[in-house]
Amino acid sequence: MRIFVTGGAGYVGSACLRLLLAQGHDAIAFDNLSEGHRLAVPEGRLIEGDIRDTAALAAAMKTHGAEAVMHFAAATYVGESVTNPDHHYGNNIGGTLSLLRAMREAGVARMLFSSTCATYGDNPEPPMNEEAAQIPCSPYARTKLAVEWMIRDFAHAYGLGYTILRYFNASGADGDGEFGENHEPETHLIPLLLQVALGQRDKLMLYGDDYPTPDGTCIRDYVHTDDLASAHLLAIAATTPTTAEVFNIGTGNGQSVKQVHQACEDVTGRRIPLQVVARRPGDAPALVADPTKLKTRLGWTPRYEDIRATVQTAWAWHQRYPKGYADKAARK
Ligand SMILES: NC(=O)c1ccc[n+]([C@@H]2O[C@H](COP(=O)([O-])OP(=O)(O)OC[C@H]3O[C@@H](n4cnc5c(N)ncnc54)[C@H](O)[C@@H]3O)[C@@H](O)[C@H]2O)c1
Repeated sequence: MRIFVTGGAGYVGSACLRLLLAQGHDAIAFDNLSEGHRLAVPEGRLIEGDIRDTAALAAAMKTHGAEAVMHFAAATYVGESVTNPDHHYGNNIGGTLSLLRAMREAGVARMLFSSTCATYGDNPEPPMNEEAAQIPCSPYARTKLAVEWMIRDFAHAYGLGYTILRYFNASGADGDGEFGENHEPETHLIPLLLQVALGQRDKLMLYGDDYPTPDGTCIRDYVHTDDLASAHLLAIAATTPTTAEVFNIGTGNGQSVKQVHQACEDVTGRRIPLQVVARRPGDAPALVADPTKLKTRLGWTPRYEDIRATVQTAWAWHQRYPKGYADKAARK
């Protein structure tokens, strides 16, 4: 299938792109490299462009002969969404509106959308299935929920088959330690802990240990990028021009910040100092997937269900490329 991958130079999008290519699909990334990395994309598979540029998108889709879109491109920093909602609403909602218009113009009638567990937000009942109430508690999560509705409304009015994938926390790196997480600034827990283990930071700031969870720290469901990518391949194969589906992608196992910290100390064999500070706005206490629907309907089987195995892959990447893709570029 010819697949157009917005945000295909980013952390999750590039993992999907590489798997699509490995499985024989003709996939191409469309990314403005605001957060993504050229070296995360195989040679000749990147179109540099901004999804808010409808004409450029439509032209690129036509040239590629796109049959389906996987839409990863977005502003993703929760903290930034609180201080700069203009950017998040403009990029995520404005950008997706531009994409949907370009898809209509180019006659592309199938898409996957990267939504998030953060749309469940303050829902107090983990694990969450797809019917759980969506109570987003950050501007970022509200943009994602708004986009879910935008896609449904476009599908209803103009005809579009879609699958919304609500990811829990993407984590890990590819098995060879060649591709992994590299955000600037880094805000995700596992890379932050591993940066402390590497001596790049003094300590991990732990935002709140007074949440209503067993050890007081926030609980998340860490799903490996390889497993996210395999879910996307199953989902795109099942998406026809009339599909209207939603799936959670998570392991079903919640890990508290303290448990992930312990896993990182065990894997690295290094002590990782913590400092407890005040809660951050926008953090929900516990977000854990019920992935039953994805497993039973699409036959998804995650390869990584043990947090230590996931951390091991991330550690291999961070050890090999402590400065991420900048190190990779310097060694070329
Ligand atoms: N990482 C997670 O844990 C997680 C969890 C839930 C949902 N998601 C969603 O998955 C998607 C991918 O997340 P990620 O962690 O890979 O983020 P990322 O920042 O690594 O990737 C996003 C990519 O989109 C590109 N991009 C952003 N705005 C763009 C624009 N206007 N035009 C073109 N390209 C643009 C960036 O350069 C980047 O390469 C996002 O939509 C995110 O909201 C991620």
